Amino acid sequence: MLKDNHGRKISYMRLAVTDRCNLRCFYCMPEDGLNWLSRAELMTYEEMLRSCSLLVKMGIEKIRITGGEPFVRKDIMHLLTAISRLDGLKELGLTTNGVLTAPYVPELKKIGVRSINLSLDTLDANRFFTITRRDEFASVMTALDAMLSHDMEVKINAVVMDGKNIQDIIPLVELAKELPVSVRFIEEMPFNGDGHVYDGLHWDYLRILDEIKSKYPQIKKLDDPAYSTSYNYQVPGHKGTIGIIAAYSRTFCGSCNRIRITPQGGLKTCLYDDGVLNLKDLMRAGASDEVLEDALLTAFGHRPADGWEAERARVAKTGIHESMATIGG
Ligand code: GTP
Ligand code: 5AD
Ligand code: SF4
Repeated sequence: MLKDNHGRKISYMRLAVTDRCNLRCFYCMPEDGLNWLSRAELMTYEEMLRSCSLLVKMGIEKIRITGGEPFVRKDIMHLLTAISRLDGLKELGLTTNGVLTAPYVPELKKIGVRSINLSLDTLDANRFFTITRRDEFASVMTALDAMLSHDMEVKINAVVMDGKNIQDIIPLVELAKELPVSVRFIEEMPFNGDGHVYDGLHWDYLRILDEIKSKYPQIKKLDDPAYSTSYNYQVPGHKGTIGIIAAYSRTFCGSCNRIRITPQGGLKTCLYDDGVLNLKDLMRAGASDEVLEDALLTAFGHRPADGWEAERARVAKTGIHESMATIGG
């Protein structure tokens, strides 16, 4: 089993395949987008596959593809198909905004993707436009239909934003009445790529839960799967479930099993480090698999115990300038 210097198992890797996105969610990036990476700065699919293959051999069991938006990268199914064939990989998942996803669903199902996390903050087309600055609500709903009709396990990620989508909390809970989806409400984190100062968390986990309980006091706590990011609930009689991700107010550090690879090949052993080594640079300098493995093991031996505490202090002072799309969530 792959372990870090604090005895935590490392088994889950989040691979961000691009920083680009076809939406502009205001909590993630500015209206004009980011300073996109050039093609030469991005890892190629060969480099991504080599990294995945090596890390799976070393003990990674689950890979989640993120972005930016994975489907804006050309021929992404090529990469996904190759990753899905890696010996030893137990689970391949992806997080998508759904805009381009619907046509790929049958093929995703065929290569063994069982679960998709879909970003959707509102069920109202106008508010969708306000939040994402793009008129794509209908395509996202089409993708959701396609996923459900292919029996995919779907988690809906809804970031809860004061003054923006509070009126969507109950309708989103009610989406899980007839549909077998897990609707997860996420505390807004200070990643907006805008450089504006974060003015504090207005809707924390408890306030979100209270809002849900005001309409559904009978909501029941479920057991949370190991390594779950969310606290999970169900309204009795509803087909789906509700989750709340206390992304800001709670630390996941104690049981953190995840590492991240950025689109440029940076390895993050914590959401809040700046990338502790660059796999792409090593590969382009001709590193063998042994050299890469050594570098990875050294990095895993230097993971911070509690990166979030340090980061929270920094954010409280300065605000934050990075975008979620450049770190892949
Ligand atoms: P599964 O458990 O595999 O379904 O996915 P996930 O919840 O890890 O991933 P997803 O991409 O759907 O992310 C959901 C939310 O959790 C996003 O807002 C992420 O940024 C947030 N998140 C994921 N990992 C961490 C983490 O290590 N710390 C914090 N604070 N938030 C995280
Ligand atoms: N705070 C919380 N969640 C965020 N996401 C993107 N930016 C933020 C933020 N600032 C979520 C998206 C996506 C997931 C990978 O991260 O909704 O579903
Ligand atoms: Fe794109 Fe996701 Fe960021 Fe929205 S949150 S702009 S969908 S990467």
